Parts: sequence; C-alpha cells; structure tokens
Amino acid sequence: MSELKRSARAAAEVSRINAFFPIMPLLGNRLASVRPFEGLTIGVSAHLTTLTAALVRELALGGGTWVLCAASDATTDYAVVDYLRDNGFDVYTSGSRDDYHSALLSHEPDLIAGVGGTLLDTLVRRFPEQAERVRGAVEVSKTGVVKVDDLDVPFPVVNINDGRLKPAVENRHGVGEGLWHAVQSLTGMHLSGRRVGVVGYGPVGRGVAAYARAAGAAVEVVESDPVRRLVAHYDGFPIPTLSDCITRAGIVVTCTGGRSVLSLADLAGAPDGMVLINAGHGGDEIDIPAIKRAAIAVDHVADHVVSYKLQSGRTLLVLTDGHPLNIVMNAGSPEPVLLHFALLGLTLEWLTRATDLPPGLITVPPDLENVAAELALTALRAAHG
Ligand SMILES: NC(=O)c1ccc[n+]([C@@H]2O[C@H](COP(=O)([O-])OP(=O)(O)OC[C@H]3O[C@@H](n4cnc5c(N)ncnc54)[C@H](O)[C@@H]3O)[C@@H](O)[C@H]2O)c1
Repeated sequence: MSELKRSARAAAEVSRINAFFPIMPLLGNRLASVRPFEGLTIGVSAHLTTLTAALVRELALGGGTWVLCAASDATTDYAVVDYLRDNGFDVYTSGSRDDYHSALLSHEPDLIAGVGGTLLDTLVRRFPEQAERVRGAVEVSKTGVVKVDDLDVPFPVVNINDGRLKPAVENRHGVGEGLWHAVQSLTGMHLSGRRVGVVGYGPVGRGVAAYARAAGAAVEVVESDPVRRLVAHYDGFPIPTLSDCITRAGIVVTCTGGRSVLSLADLAGAPDGMVLINAGHGGDEIDIPAIKRAAIAVDHVADHVVSYKLQSGRTLLVLTDGHPLNIVMNAGSPEPVLLHFALLGLTLEWLTRATDLPPGLITVPPDLENVAAELALTALRAAHG
C-alpha cells in the first residue's frame, strides 16, 4: 500500500473511532481552550496504533511540541506512523530501541508519557543529567510501573495504571472483551465448549476469564497470589496448579506481566494443538524462544499463527508470536483505551501546573479520574443518545 493510502486509512480509522466514542475530541476542545503545553516539548513512547494517533492529534491542540517513538516493533502500525508524520509530528521507529529512544530524547522533552517504562529507563540510566531537567511523566502500564519503581527517577511519575479507572475499565473489560473478539477474527474459533486456562487473575485475567465464560468456555484460573486465587474461587472458577491446568486446557492465555511464566517445561503435559495466547504487556510471558529451539517442525499456518511440532509429536499453536494479541490485532479495545488516554492527557495537563510533587511514582489523583469519567459519560451520551 502506498504511503498516501496508508496515511488516509489511518485518518479514516481515527474518524470512525471518534464518531462512536468522541472522548478524544472532548479532550481536544478542553486543551485547545487552555493551551497548557505552550512552549513545552512532550515525548511520547506508545504503541503506535490508530488509538494513539487519535490521542496525539487532540493533545497537540493544547500547544507544545510532540515527539513520539514506538513502544514495541510488534505493535507499530506504519499507516499510523505515516499519518502522524503527515500531520507534522516527529516519530522514531527505526533501529534499535536505544536508537529511537535517543532520537526522541535529543528533543529534550519537559514531560514524558509512556507505556512499558522503557523510555524512562533509557532516560534515567543513560542520560541522568537530562533526567534532572524533566518536569514529570505519566506511565500507563503495570509493566512500566514495576520498571519505574526500580529506577531512581528524579521527577514525579504519575501511575495511572493503579488508580480506580484503568484497571476497572480498560484492563478488565477492554482486554477481556477485545482479546476474544481478536482471537475469533484471527482463528475463527468459537469459545463455546472450549477449555481455557487463564494464568494471572489481576484485572486483565479477571476480564479474560469472565468474557470467555460468558462465551461458553469452561475456564480455569491459575494464580500465584493466594488472595486473588481465593477471589477466582468465589467468582466460580476452578483454581488448579499450572501443570494440572495445562493437561486439560485447549487454550491458555497468560495475563501476568511476568517473564517466562509459561516455560517449555510447563508445557510438557500440553495436549496436541494447544493454543497459546498472551494478553500481558510484554512479548516474553510465554517462553517462545525455548519453544522455537525445541521444535522439530515449524508451520506458518497464517499471519500471526505458527504451529510448532515438538519431539513428543504434539503441536503448539502460538498466536501473535507471544505479543499481546489484542494490541497486535486490534490496537487494543477503543473505548477503554481512549478512556485512559483521556486520563493521560488530563494528567499531563495537571503536571504543567502541579508544584511540589515528590520524585518517583505517585498514584493518579482521584479528581483527574473523576474528570476523565465525566468526559467518558458525556461521550457515551453523545454517541448513544
Ligand atoms: N493486552 C492489553 O491490552 C493490556 C492492557 C492492560 C494491561 N496489560 C498488561 O497485562 C498484564 C496484567 O495486568 P493486570 O492489571 O491484571 O496486572 P496485575 O499485576 O494486577 O495482575 C497480574 C496477576 O498475575 C499473577 N501472577 C504473576 N505471575 C504469575 C505466575 N507465574 N503464575 C500465576 N499467576 C501469576 C499475579 O499474582 C497477579 O495477580 C500486565 O503486564 C499489564 O501491563 C495488557
């Protein structure tokens, strides 16, 4: 597809998204009337999807210079990259992650918005003097929050993952509903009667399990935290060990944010044709490199679907190479993602006027969540009468 066509496709997607849930234009109107970012440079490390394009377009109405880089190659939509560049944004995607972080940081951002914490990691570890001049940052993902917690960050980083809004709506309902839509369109599978193992019962796992059950699957939950395991029990799910669950499940979804939570050894008892899906942030919850090394035959069944035959004669069907499937396929779920994007925009606006904030992680102020929820309710009324 030519660059022009790709960019036009992304523009049409942004219009479609705004027609059904116009929270981004509402945010843009608010920012345009205040122009809080005038004179500032803001660096954004994000999944470069149409939803991010819909966000950045509105954020820029608040003034300032906006510079972007990819959060992950696997989730970068090059139509969106073209669209953003056509609209005058600098977007860095090529070379190694270090390369595009360095390119973005050469703009010396005053504020940073990120998913996954990798840009903040590069900034603090490689450019500590520059980090001293940053006014504040927003981190949207659990994985990023954990990473930032390990860093000695000299400025406030607002954690919008652990407020009230994002876990309740985006992590739970957005991923829960969006993941299974994406799986069905990728594979044609219906869930009725299938056995699904959900690993991790945070908000993401809870949504993934609930929507699978609602679609008729027999769902089991594997969770290492005893309180959450108990909650899964009272929500009505069997709570086997991982190895036990693996012997029965036809589909396993990782939802932990951890690394190698599903190793090759864990998969020893897997039935033939087990489908492996990741819904967590990174691409390493399932040990795909170990599966690749152990495979005696590999079949690229379709885009994003690879079958690995193991020595035992059994196959594993890996979807989207272990990257978060709903994001790779669908850019996440529009409404919940846009809701937390609105919160991200409001938080950046707040950081331009907040004073005396401590360095390091701070939880998003409830007042900002209330404003974001009001914007969402207004958008829902406008869209649905
Ligand atoms: N795909 C998406 O669109 C999307 C959206 C939001 C969040 N996420 C990501 O999904 C992941 C989960 O998010 P969350 O909000 O539910 O996080 P969370 O930390 O609240 O929940 C993760 C759960 O996994 C459990 N866990 C960790 N390791 C385990 C293991 N080895 N076995 C069993 N259980 C284990 C933890 O005890 C915890 O209860 C994070 O990586 C987050 O960044 C993805």
